[in-house]
Amino acid sequence: MQHDPNSYPRSSDVVDARQAESQGNSLYPHAKTRSQKRDKFIGFTRDEATAAALHTALVEHVPNDNRVHQMDFRQALAVLAAMPTPEIVLVDLSGEEQPINALVDLADTVDPGTVVLAIGEVQEVNFYRLVVKNMGVKEYLPKPLTKDKIAAHFLPVIDNLAHKQVGPRGGRMVALCGARGGVGVSCIAANLGSYIANELRRHTLLLDGEVNTGTLALDLNIAASRGLPAVLEAPQRVDQLLIERCVQDLGDRLHVMAGMEALEWEAPCTAEGLASLVQTIRARYNFIVADTGARLTPLARQLLFNVQQRVIVLDPTLISLRNVEKLHTLPIGSGQEPRPLLVLNKAGVQGGLARRFMEDQLGAPFDAVIPDLPRLVGQHTGFGTLAVRQRSPFRQGILALVAALGVGAQPGTAQANAQPSYAMAP
Ligand SMILES: Nc1ncnc2c1ncn2[C@@H]1O[C@H](COP(=O)(O)OP(=O)(O)OP(=O)(O)O)[C@@H](O)[C@H]1O
Ligand SMILES: [Mg+2]
Repeated sequence: MQHDPNSYPRSSDVVDARQAESQGNSLYPHAKTRSQKRDKFIGFTRDEATAAALHTALVEHVPNDNRVHQMDFRQALAVLAAMPTPEIVLVDLSGEEQPINALVDLADTVDPGTVVLAIGEVQEVNFYRLVVKNMGVKEYLPKPLTKDKIAAHFLPVIDNLAHKQVGPRGGRMVALCGARGGVGVSCIAANLGSYIANELRRHTLLLDGEVNTGTLALDLNIAASRGLPAVLEAPQRVDQLLIERCVQDLGDRLHVMAGMEALEWEAPCTAEGLASLVQTIRARYNFIVADTGARLTPLARQLLFNVQQRVIVLDPTLISLRNVEKLHTLPIGSGQEPRPLLVLNKAGVQGGLARRFMEDQLGAPFDAVIPDLPRLVGQHTGFGTLAVRQRSPFRQGILALVAALGVGAQPGTAQANAQPSYAMAP
């Protein structure tokens, strides 16, 4: 990698950071005043291979492509202490004997609202869980980094931040998709939507994105309607009034769009039409749960692109595990949380994979786990009733998903609870 001596400091440059401040260069350009406009990104890594991988992957994603600096964690802290913290900071925890303590020191150093990405040597899921869930690190990747890993896990964070401020306001839309068919997406979507509407009292829309083969209407024991086809066929005419006419009421706060079109009917869905439909729906509801199934139809792909949060439902099989990797490569729209939530359904089913094994393979813990409960769930599916209404481990699993989505939190803090922001209040 090419080193520009003016902008890419050697270790000795860093030792007296304060001194360098007065001279000014790209790392110490300003005194540490909070009112100054923040740069978008700065990254630090200890080793050359990682620096090279980051450099290659970040070109065209950060304004100034010499923003990855090679130094150890303590030197990076000294640099950060001497500058207004950029919006996103990437740190390398390798070499730190106590990486958690290192993150606490970092929290004391960076400005509030900073988004932190971390890399390091620790591979364990428990460590990932701790730093991402409890310490507020936005995403953690163990070394060695590859271009693909950076693209899948860090770039969405870096790219999205720029769009977040300008994203349209409105209700939150989540899409549930299956890592393979039959994992229980429709069952979970129906129960999740019902819980949010009936118990959390949010105006909620349940949308069956599988217009030809969906079962949401059956799960809710209602007749299928032509609601969604009607709005998809005329996206330019979609307004609040048309939405009102196309939904079915299932209580004062739960509306449903669930059809069962003939197989030859192909849902017309252009990118612009779908984006505008989502915007209109978000203006009307507090929360929208879309069941996009596992078949990745064109409509499902558009929905997955436009929502704010994806949820991938797996069953304990190798096929589910393998397909999650593939789902990670689907493009995501602006304003979407970069990390999909992962739900393990039918956990403990005979012959299924162990949860721990799956988490190790995924490199991340599940956000919610629902046990295999064939009698309870099967009975409710058969009668078109909702298992979440009854105290059971199924309900516990749905509640865990609700918590991971941050729906129960106060308005404005929901997102923060789902993906804690790193820096604490000043
Ligand atoms: N936790 C569970 N324990 C036992 N059975 C379950 C559980 N969750 C769902 N099921 C059952 O699994 C079957 C498939 O569920 P569902 O139709 O919701 O899956 P799906 O992912 O939507 O399938 P498809 O890919 O066909 O859309 C149903 O019979 C349902 O009762
Ligand atoms: Mg389904």
